[in-house]
Amino acid sequence: MQIYKVGGAVRDRLLGKPVTDIDWVVVGASTEEMLAKGYRPVGADFPVFLHPKSGEEYALARTERKSGRGYGGFTFHASPEVTLEEDLIRRDLTINAMAEDDHGRLTDPYHGQRDLEARLLRHVSPAFAEDPLRVLRVARFAARYAGLGFTVAPETLDLMRQLSESGELEALTAERSWKEISRALMEDQPHVFIQVLRDCGALNVLIPEVEALFGVPQPEAHHPEIDSGVHTLSVLEQAALHKQPLTVRWACLLHDLGKGLTPESQWPRHIAHEHKGLRLIKAVNERFKAPRDCQELALLVGEYHTHGHRALELKPSTLLELLQSFDVYRRPQRFEEFINACEMDARGRKGLEQRSYPQADYLRGAATAARTVAVQPLLELGFKGPELGEALKRERLKALKAYKEAASA
Ligand code: CTP
Repeated sequence: MQIYKVGGAVRDRLLGKPVTDIDWVVVGASTEEMLAKGYRPVGADFPVFLHPKSGEEYALARTERKSGRGYGGFTFHASPEVTLEEDLIRRDLTINAMAEDDHGRLTDPYHGQRDLEARLLRHVSPAFAEDPLRVLRVARFAARYAGLGFTVAPETLDLMRQLSESGELEALTAERSWKEISRALMEDQPHVFIQVLRDCGALNVLIPEVEALFGVPQPEAHHPEIDSGVHTLSVLEQAALHKQPLTVRWACLLHDLGKGLTPESQWPRHIAHEHKGLRLIKAVNERFKAPRDCQELALLVGEYHTHGHRALELKPSTLLELLQSFDVYRRPQRFEEFINACEMDARGRKGLEQRSYPQADYLRGAATAARTVAVQPLLELGFKGPELGEALKRERLKALKAYKEAASA
């Protein structure tokens, strides 16, 4: 049997990027031989094994044929006769379809190295279309390597467009889509992911609520970029520049969905878009079964981002309601993420990327003021149950009044 390093490990070494996990392909071996050598099978009928010591993945060279819709609809053919070239041709991109033997010799039948140099994300063969998830993968690689100058080859974008129009994307499971989306959002240029999905018509299938933001104007005084979709991309870009976590990036992507619902007659104003957007945010959250912390933050940021921007003008009672809505006493981190999402929203505007955002520290100070109200003295005064809750609120309101006065003095 011959063993080759394949996929991302070869690509990233040639790009001079750190290689984290290594995938291997085994040519000329059978399942029985793998088991006899101590490799552990990953699944019952999937020709992938884990190395007994390193735990790395070793896959038997295989061909794949699509036998139906969706991810389940695959038949694999793995046998000692399948060649390296046959295994490589079923892969997604030329830059992912190179193999390296243990002397570092490259097998590159589909010109991955040439495309690496040309900075092109190009599909290997028509077999690309067998897995619609690849539309998201290509967009994710575009987001990752945009900084190096990579773009999607026009013929690959065409194929992605055909896949998007074919209805195949609808057959993807929430889990597979979310895995790609969440990884893409954590790349250096997540806005490129959304842009590429848009360019091939996939955004309109996957998250039409975001697609609907493009072409919707906002008041120029607050939004020099005018377009709500362009603004959303800039907010996401800022979130990545400021190294924000996934929760914040997800909230940034969805924060303005309500603007897509505004009747044209009301443009460029978007009255109550924060509330109107909530059912859309909920729908997108559920469509991809986003993790609970992502879902919660997206809804809270959607509902309260305007409060964040107006923090310095808020009455102490409104500030208190805001803090209560976030349960800031038990969930301080979530409120911090909200503040950061608001700041990204403020900076994700043309020409305003460097603006200061005093609202952030003001909100942090308010949270600290409310949190310093101690429960113990109230317990000692005999408050319990709902009365204790009311007393705490009164004390917190006092603390916030004092905080606001001190801040404006
Ligand atoms: N692959 C594919 N189509 C998919 C998934 C994977 O062709 N839908 C192939 C590609 O050759 C890819 C390899 O399997 O390079 C390994 O896949 P994976 O580990 O998901 O991706 P990597 O390319 O290693 O990239 P990453 O750095 O994102 O892990």
